[in-house]
Amino acid sequence: MSTSTLSAILAFGVAVAAYCFLAPANTANVPRIGPKPSFLGNTSKSFFSKHSLQLLEEGYAKYRDGLYSLWTTDMDRVIVSPLFMKDFMSLPRSVVRLTASIRHAGPYTGMDIPAYEEIVYALNKKLEGMQSSQGGFKVAVFPQMIELVTCASARVFVGPELCRNPDWLATATGYTLDVAKVTTDLNRYYRIFHPFIAPFLKSRQQIKTRFTLAKKLLAPLIESRRSKANPPSPDMIQWLVDTATGSDATTDNIVRRMLFLNMAAIHTTAEVLTHNIFELCERSETLQMLREEMLEALPENSSVRLTTLNSDLKKTDSFIKESHRLNPLGFMTFNRHLVAPVRLHNGVTLPANTYISINHYSRQRDPDVYPEPLLFDALRFYRLRQQSGESEQHQFASISSTEPWWGVGKFACPGRQWASAQVKLVLMAVLLGFDIGFPEGQSKKPERVVQAEKLRTSFTQQIILKRRER
Ligand code: HEM
Repeated sequence: MSTSTLSAILAFGVAVAAYCFLAPANTANVPRIGPKPSFLGNTSKSFFSKHSLQLLEEGYAKYRDGLYSLWTTDMDRVIVSPLFMKDFMSLPRSVVRLTASIRHAGPYTGMDIPAYEEIVYALNKKLEGMQSSQGGFKVAVFPQMIELVTCASARVFVGPELCRNPDWLATATGYTLDVAKVTTDLNRYYRIFHPFIAPFLKSRQQIKTRFTLAKKLLAPLIESRRSKANPPSPDMIQWLVDTATGSDATTDNIVRRMLFLNMAAIHTTAEVLTHNIFELCERSETLQMLREEMLEALPENSSVRLTTLNSDLKKTDSFIKESHRLNPLGFMTFNRHLVAPVRLHNGVTLPANTYISINHYSRQRDPDVYPEPLLFDALRFYRLRQQSGESEQHQFASISSTEPWWGVGKFACPGRQWASAQVKLVLMAVLLGFDIGFPEGQSKKPERVVQAEKLRTSFTQQIILKRRER
């Protein structure tokens, strides 16, 4: 083939890719914060990546209750105030789509003792093989939380058959890392080049290998859950098998959904827990208060029940929520793609193919919403629950349009009850079994790092765990 033919093919390829893959500026008639999108799109070295917080704070100061456009790393978005939520709630999910969406992803809340036992088992097994240091065990918090959450989730997602299988545990956490790696690898380049680069990424090949292994492990389980000869099992895989219809019911799609659920569930919950642990290492009085509540909720030799988690740990719940208010995992939520035009109550129409988000970070630090917003007040939400008629509100897993941390209404995180229960289970296992603290000489938690729209905690910070008697 001649050089000129090759060049023509390449030029044609680039033009097709540009047409298909460029994320153009949104055409909504709203003001803009920061620069306009360029023809090539953005990369992880872009203006937004370096100035994300500053841009979002400027947007919040100017348009707290309104709308504005913001060019983020992966797309041009319209940032909407929670006041517009009522306009989206009446629309079907097929119109307001998650930017990385699966359907049939629902809550699994029927968990209790087995998951707690799994956490205690995993923690003790890990420590058995470790040398002690500074009178205890030195563990890196985030990787440890990932391990515990993966084990507890596995018990609930895939049942007793697979929940201690090292290949499944590695697949459950590794898949998320692979997906994150593909995103990081691709975001180094302009979007126009993604279709050419993606097939050659090692991280993408890795995803395929993981999927093959996941299918090998899950296929027999799916078959057994499908069989009418077996009684239904109380796990997520049974739930996925029972509820999927049409093409969603194929083995491949159930495996995909299970991997997506692990992706949505594990790293998020582990990061929330990591922040909880750091906050507790900094606040010994709060730690003591929560431990006392836990001891009362879980007398020796008694087992954890749903009521323990839902009703007996109100201070713990308030602490977790306060920690999450001040340590969110990112700046934005409700990241959605509108596939049809949406007319808002203020008369503005968002055209089809608009990407929208809510900036919840600034709202969580707004003095008009939370008095003394920068103060860590572990009992902030506990006190609100003491008010008449409010006892079921203000929980970590509660959703409301004024607190869109979990997303909003019917679009909110379906796993939030399970996440909340799981965070409490892990905190109980850690606080009842151990004294915890930063290594000698450290009294403050590590700084968080801004990565575009994400707010990352330290993945390497260690703490000392010292066994304690009840
Ligand atoms: C503390 C941990 C968690 C946090 C902070 C969290 C947060 C969120 C948020 C903010 C959304 C909404 C995204 C949006 O609208 O843009 C979401 C969606 C979702 N979450 Fe969670 N989540 C957590 C744990 C879980 C768990 C444990 C599961 C599964 C059991 C789960 C499953 C999902 C799914 C399937 C969606 C997508 C829902 C849809 O299709 O609309 N999450 N999560």
